[in-house]
Amino acid sequence: MTLETHSSLEGKRLLLIIGGGIAAYKCLDLIRRVKERGMTVRTILTKGGEQFVTPLSVSGLSGEKTYTDLFSLTDEVEMGHIRLSREADLVLVAPATADMMAKMVAGIADNLATTALLATDKPVMIAPSMNSRMWEHAATQRNVKQLQKDGIHVINPTSGDLACGEVGAGRLAEVEDLVAALEGFFTPTGPLAGRHIIITAGPTYEAIDPVRYIANRSSGKQGYAIARALRELGAKVSLISGPTNLDAPKNVTVTNIESANEMLAACQNTLPADVAICVAAVADWRTSQEAAQKIKKQGGQIPALQMVENPDILKILSNDATNRPTLVVGFAAETENISNNAKAKLKRKGCDWIVANDVSTTDGQSVMGGDHNRVSLITAAGAEEWDNAHKDEVARRLAQKIEKHFT
Ligand code: CTP
Repeated sequence: MTLETHSSLEGKRLLLIIGGGIAAYKCLDLIRRVKERGMTVRTILTKGGEQFVTPLSVSGLSGEKTYTDLFSLTDEVEMGHIRLSREADLVLVAPATADMMAKMVAGIADNLATTALLATDKPVMIAPSMNSRMWEHAATQRNVKQLQKDGIHVINPTSGDLACGEVGAGRLAEVEDLVAALEGFFTPTGPLAGRHIIITAGPTYEAIDPVRYIANRSSGKQGYAIARALRELGAKVSLISGPTNLDAPKNVTVTNIESANEMLAACQNTLPADVAICVAAVADWRTSQEAAQKIKKQGGQIPALQMVENPDILKILSNDATNRPTLVVGFAAETENISNNAKAKLKRKGCDWIVANDVSTTDGQSVMGGDHNRVSLITAAGAEEWDNAHKDEVARRLAQKIEKHFT
């Protein structure tokens, strides 16, 4: 198994809404701690929050502008409240005051913070902090329950001395507990949690000159579907993708490359991994030398392109002496003798499984670019034919096979 040495916050974007409470000062340390773990932080400071910390100290730590006023025209031009709330992976309100929680329950949008909260399509977490009587008040407790029902994650306040001199529940959770809650949120759960899986997908582009390239019709749909299916089972997925028109799957690390050489380098930089699945339609050849300038027509003379073979990424990963993934899976495009050809390919490449596509036609639909795929899974145990199915379904079945392999 690959050791997870980095934080689950790495590369994630937080929108931190700092409410008006004495505990707002803890947010300054929180910003530092999550940034150390690779998170980027944008902040909204409410009017109340501004009584306790200054926009300058918040920006100084976050390294970004602090947003304070809903009706600032320059802010709306630079970054509207909708964008602010959407360009984050998670929204955290800390400290969340009783007033803020009541407004969230009611859907009131009367300032930048509450407007962003109403407009967001991202998960929201709140860390309440207030006087213990306010926290225990039936209205606040009713609001907490409603917010949880609305899908909001609540980091409960702790008990102890409160700033108002009283003792009881209502203290903002400590910074390390806030960080732990954030890390817990982004740590995948599921049967493949802790497994790292590399997937290659899409076509490669092999440049002829600065404007022309050799490519193929691969859409990347099957590889992207496999990335989604494995992420849903909790795996850490690194998708190394040639050019496609597809959206990056959620919570998957995507490395965009163009050529076979770049794809190989990206795979090797991403090792070690527990599994490698080579779904990409890698160009078998590239020109021996990419022309530095656009090749011009030369009075009817046809340019001769000298080709050289590309590295076979599947074969190289399968034969990696130091970093071979435990399970290496290849794809094979076949039109006839599917099972026998795939078995021979399995041996030739040194991989563990081959998913053989029948690319003749799938009920009249083309596999390349289409939504369906008819495959056979070839392993040491033999060949298994799967019915023609949507690429998402093929992906789910393959992900389940991989889950079984590791249990
Ligand atoms: N592959 C690769 N690097 C290459 C070529 C292929 O990683 N340079 C991988 C593909 O991602 C796929 C498998 O190898 O997993 C396909 O093997 P390939 O030899 O290209 O087979 P086919 O495309 O099926 O073609 P052929 O039968 O002509 O060999």
